[in-house]
Amino acid sequence: SAIYGAGVSGRRPRVPTDHRELERRARRACSPRAWAYVAGGAGTEATMRANRAAFDRRSIVPRTLRDVSRRDLGVELFGRRIPAPVLFAPVGAVELVHPEADLAVARAAAELGLPYVFSNQACVPMEDCAAAMGDAPRWFQLYWSTDEDLVDSLLARAERSGAEAVVVTLDTTMLGWRPRDLDLGSLPFARGEGIAQYTSDPRFREMVRERVARGSGGEDVRITFAAVRALLSMSRRFPGPLLRNLRSPEPREAVRTFLDTYSRPSLTWADLASLRERTKLPIVLKGVLHPDDARRAVDAGVDGVVVSNHGGRQVDGSVAALDALAEIAPLVGAELTVLFDSGIRSGGDVVKALALGADAVCVGRPYVHGLALAGAAGARDAVADIVAELDLTLGLTGHASPAELTPDVLRG
Ligand code: FNR
Repeated sequence: SAIYGAGVSGRRPRVPTDHRELERRARRACSPRAWAYVAGGAGTEATMRANRAAFDRRSIVPRTLRDVSRRDLGVELFGRRIPAPVLFAPVGAVELVHPEADLAVARAAAELGLPYVFSNQACVPMEDCAAAMGDAPRWFQLYWSTDEDLVDSLLARAERSGAEAVVVTLDTTMLGWRPRDLDLGSLPFARGEGIAQYTSDPRFREMVRERVARGSGGEDVRITFAAVRALLSMSRRFPGPLLRNLRSPEPREAVRTFLDTYSRPSLTWADLASLRERTKLPIVLKGVLHPDDARRAVDAGVDGVVVSNHGGRQVDGSVAALDALAEIAPLVGAELTVLFDSGIRSGGDVVKALALGADAVCVGRPYVHGLALAGAAGARDAVADIVAELDLTLGLTGHASPAELTPDVLRG
């Protein structure tokens, strides 16, 4: 109603309320390299299109003459009541789009009281984000490293930072084939964006020091005059990370250590058992798409899943996340907290995901678009708009709370 009130009084919103316009404006606010990273998907981006098509194929059948004057969007996740079934998805390397990066997102999420899932590839250490959030809810997303001590260190930091759940991302054992990034010849992390969660970690720093001591950075120190000039001219366009990386071999070794250790392709279900013993936090598996994997998640004793294809960034030609949700939620919804992401752009989309059995949804790119346009306030407004439209759509379809949404609300 605040958003409508502003409209009636003739004030324009800070970020466009139409997500297509939001995306267009965000694109103009970003460097080509930042936009390639944020907007891009795997391969031909068929999965990104499939994600949207799965929403568009389903329609909501509104009901009438039910008292919807009092609506409550609140849901409970792992014992914590949140005002709406919406989370800020973990998104790495956001300093590419705005200098305040994760800190701005932390403030945005805290203002809305919605959980922010700190990315393992954040540009601001989780401790700093947590400090900016008061007692607002936050979770931590883990990429299971090849180094077990690093996993333990990250988990301990997450617990100390007040994280209320750990989200283990399973679909990124390797980075997907992303032509937009590849064709620019510059994956974000190569210049050190998105590795502050690591470089602020005591165990990671120890690993880097060991590498430097072994002298594995030797050949990199011999930089030719021409290379220095080229790098400096680039750094005027992208200051910050690159300059930091040039000062000594240590930061360059940090990037290499990160690339070598951030994720473990050999991970199996057997490894999960150890995680259960290593943290008291609820464990949520992100990137589950096959019904059998959802059943295995139940057997593994985890607490939740995020049905997600990583916003179409990992496997080109993958099943649409919403179609996977329709299969998975009926199977495991009684035993697990079922979250959903990949393609949510509007309140109506949230209604569809909830109707198919999601307990809550995560939003990725839309808040990054808001962040690119207007920092913390932009990220906040982009998500607040989705929540406001969810509230209206819920009421206009004859429902007073998310719990009232069931599959028969949808056709198609
Ligand atoms: C992501 N995503 C992601 N996921 C994760 O577990 N850790 C991460 O660091 C990142 N980083 C990341 C960067 C960018 C630029 C994007 C767009 C996405 C995936 C993210 O959590 C979520 O699954 C998708 O963004 C959801 O899809 P939509 O909402 O972007 O369509």
